[in-house]
This record gives sequence, C-alpha cells and structure tokens, in this order.
Amino acid sequence: MSAAGRSTALPTGAHDGVVAEGLGKRYGELWALREVDLDVPPGSVLGLLGHNGAGKTTAIRILTTLALPSAGRASVAGLDVVAEAARVRERIGLAGQYATVDGLLSARVNLEMVGRLYHLPRAIARARARELLERLGLLEKADILVRTFSGGMRRRLDLAASLMGEPPVLFLDEPTTGLDPQGRNDLWTLLRELVDGGTTLVLTTQYLEEADRLADNIVVLDRGRIVAAGPPEELKARVGGERIEVTLASEEGLTSAAEALSAFADGQSVTAPEELRVTMPARAGTRLVEVVRALDAAGVDALDVHRREATLDDVFLAVTGSHGSPETPATEALAR
Ligand SMILES: Nc1ncnc2c1ncn2[C@@H]1O[C@H](COP(=O)(O)OP(=O)(O)O)[C@@H](O)[C@H]1O
Ligand SMILES: [Mg+2]
Repeated sequence: MSAAGRSTALPTGAHDGVVAEGLGKRYGELWALREVDLDVPPGSVLGLLGHNGAGKTTAIRILTTLALPSAGRASVAGLDVVAEAARVRERIGLAGQYATVDGLLSARVNLEMVGRLYHLPRAIARARARELLERLGLLEKADILVRTFSGGMRRRLDLAASLMGEPPVLFLDEPTTGLDPQGRNDLWTLLRELVDGGTTLVLTTQYLEEADRLADNIVVLDRGRIVAAGPPEELKARVGGERIEVTLASEEGLTSAAEALSAFADGQSVTAPEELRVTMPARAGTRLVEVVRALDAAGVDALDVHRREATLDDVFLAVTGSHGSPETPATEALAR
C-alpha cells in the first residue's frame, strides 16, 4: 500500500490545530506507530510522552510531512499532511531531536538565512533574528560560529530557527534534552508565552514533569500505541502525585518498611527487592520527618528517605502495571 492512491479526505473534525485519526507507520515488520488518534485544539499544547523508541519522533515526522503514514490520516492547520504537504510546511515550525543549524555560520546568519527561506523582507528577518537571539539568551554569541556552541546553545538556536516564520503550529521533539535546569525553565516560559499568543504546540518528552508543566493534554505512547491520554490533572490523579522513596540497608526491612509507609500512602506502594527500595505515592501534606519517625519506630534501617515527583515510569506502573518498554520495542506481527 502506498500513499499514492489515498483519498485527500481530512480526518474527522479537522481544525486549525492538529488532528490524527488511526495514524500508523510501519518499518518492515515493526509498527513504529499504531492506531494513533490525536486532537490538539488551536492554541493548546499536546505533550507526547514516552520512553526511547515509543514512536514520538515517528509521529512528529509524519505530522511535519517528513515521513508518510502507512495508515490513517492527519491534518495540521486544517491541511492534509500528505496531500497538502507543501502548504503544511508553510504553517509549521519544527525543532528536531538533532540540531540542524549550520555550524560554519554564525547564529545570526543562520537565523537570517531561515528568514529568507520564509521570504521575509531582509529588515524584518534581521529584526526577528535579533529578537529571538535575545529571548533565547544567545545575543552575546550571535556572531560566533555555531560549531563552537554547546549542545544546549545549538538547541536554543534550532528553536529560534523554527520560530523565525512565526508558525501557527510548532513541533518540538524533546526540546529540553541537553538543557540545564535554568535553560529548561527559560524555555518553558518562552513556550508558554507563544501558546498564550495562540500558537498550537506539539512537544515530545520523556519527562512527566515537563509534560505536566506545559501540556493541556498528554498522550502516553508505548511501542507505538497510546496507553493513556488526558489532561495532566487526570493523569496525575491516576498516577498519584509525589513519591516517597525509602532505600534500606538490607532486605529484611522491606516488608516492615512497606507496612510503616502504608500509613502515609495514597495508593499502592511498590517494592523493588533487588534495589532494596520501597516507593510509595504519598498523601498530600505528608511530612518527610513523620515518615522517618515511623520507619524508626518500626525498627527499619533506612539508608535514604526522600521525596520525588512522579515520573514516566510511575505512569506506566499505574496504567499498564509495568515499567513500559524503554529501548526495547517489541516487533509486532504484521496485522493481516
Ligand atoms: N527509519 C526507520 N527505519 C526503521 N525503524 C525505525 C525508523 N525510525 C524509527 N524506527 C523504529 O521505530 C520505533 C520508534 O522510533 P521513534 O519514533 O524514533 O521513537 P522515539 O522518538 O519515541 O524514541 C523504534 O523502534 C525505532 O527503532
Ligand atoms: Mg525520538
């Protein structure tokens, strides 16, 4: 089956944001993406959450016309990503997992060149390049060759390039990978501003926290399929909020630790015997010092007790009962 004979019918309910219906992509025996439905209303943010190999980049590539779907259909800005690919490209920005800027040019020249690709008048391209360099903290390095940039700086420049054309729909594939916490926060702020200004944003991430911070809706992918979807609050309600993690000195204490923790638990605790660790979704307002006292009273010899945010792994545990499949995508038999 090729895309050649496809009807150009848009997915049901197509609008100025992003819609996908039964989207699939097959590489040989492997379905990298399978029966994926998406609905990203204009001006909202979708967080595509999943481990390595889940199918995030594949989805982004199809939606940005870089790959053809093997099944289903999708629209971006009201246009069919296959039949109207060229027009889709005029309305989107993409910052990929790997920076695409030219190392042999300066940051400023890179951006001005992108401006020319968008047919911006020279003066406007220059002004916009300057503004983006400033907002992304690159102004001081604007005239230095990009090949001397750190990974984080390259990624920020790549993002700036994707914003030169002021695209109504923006796709960011793991945008904060390689950024330090400060850079990550700055980027989140910038993205929030863009979305408040009406931009539709699809971003991928391996971090629940990031999806939670930015997204109006989250879709969790595992081996190409959607395993959970909904607003962050809903997902977090299913997963539970913070975790308290206790690491023990020896295996003996595992059972009594789990028992002592249950007094503070908001859901099932998980014991990892090989790691001598018990993890519990903590009830809101739980104080760490009370937990330590309770463990002490139960005679548990704890090496470490700490609080952490829920992670993607916690999502998988809550929705599928397993840790998901980081870097071990199963080859799925061809259907029919
Ligand atoms: N061009 C390709 N050819 C063959 N397999 C691919 C290709 N691109 C991706 N895959 C496979 O598809 C699955 C999903 O990959 P990808 O979409 O890159 O996942 P993610 O971005 O979530 O890490 C992986 O198993 C990957 O190895
Ligand atoms: Mg990827």
